[in-house]
Amino acid sequence: MRLNGKVAIITGGTFGIGESTALLFGREGAKVVVAGRNMEKGEYVVSQIKEQGGDAIFVKTDVAKEDDVQNLISVTEDTFGKLDILFANAGVGAMGDIHETSLEDWNTLLSVDLTGVFLCSKFAIPAMMKNGSGSIINCASILGHVGQPSVSAYAAAKGGVVNMTRSAAVTYANRGIRINAVCPGYIDTPMLDQLDSDAKRHLESLHPIGRLGRPEEIANAVLFLASDESSFVTGANLLVDGGYTAQ
Ligand SMILES: NC(=O)c1ccc[n+]([C@@H]2O[C@H](COP(=O)([O-])OP(=O)(O)OC[C@H]3O[C@@H](n4cnc5c(N)ncnc54)[C@H](O)[C@@H]3O)[C@@H](O)[C@H]2O)c1
Repeated sequence: MRLNGKVAIITGGTFGIGESTALLFGREGAKVVVAGRNMEKGEYVVSQIKEQGGDAIFVKTDVAKEDDVQNLISVTEDTFGKLDILFANAGVGAMGDIHETSLEDWNTLLSVDLTGVFLCSKFAIPAMMKNGSGSIINCASILGHVGQPSVSAYAAAKGGVVNMTRSAAVTYANRGIRINAVCPGYIDTPMLDQLDSDAKRHLESLHPIGRLGRPEEIANAVLFLASDESSFVTGANLLVDGGYTAQ
């Protein structure tokens, strides 16, 4: 097992990429802290991990709220004694042209997709410094690297995550904490549920591999970054995108 004895927080662990990663981390021996807003679904993911023979808890968390994130780290340390891995995955999507985006909508998206990632690192890093080691994986996107029409707020947030990851990585490298980002292409999760089948087919055609990604394919990349197999990897933005950005 590749995460035996490790304690891992996964934000947005209730659906999609976060849920897949929580289940995979559980199978790989980690004690998993599933963080999210939906208690019923969170407890369901915890029960699935336990059925697989793993150990997990759910902590109700809105990553945009500083008190919630601080509480998440405290409960993790109180329950499992330490923190080794943070997957700052929680995020929301939104479409909209800049001239039609309200300041409120802009702030709401950034509060989750960028500030939420910052808050998770802010409180996780002191816990990791106590151990002298840790691995943080931030969830960015291909849209942190390339543009696409009508996703300016989302692209701004994900671009922010990409470069915050680099700066944080070089800041904490000599304290044993590795910080990387995973940058998915379009992945078939509830985030894409609002798209009709034509829109999904169009997105599929943008990936040279010819399909959308599966949540497990991102979870596998996150597992690599979380585990000691990536011990010389920090500050990386790992594109897992079916060739989308290679074109
Ligand atoms: N699906 C894609 O095509 C795609 C592509 C690139 C990047 N991503 C990124 O992957 C991550 C996971 O997305 P997904 O596709 O699994 O979507 P999803 O909608 O299935 O899951 C998102 C998760 O984040 C949680 N969440 C949202 N706001 C939150 C908040 N304020 N506090 C706590 N939890 C919150 C949701 O409840 C859910 O569990 C996101 O950061 C997203 O931007 C997704």
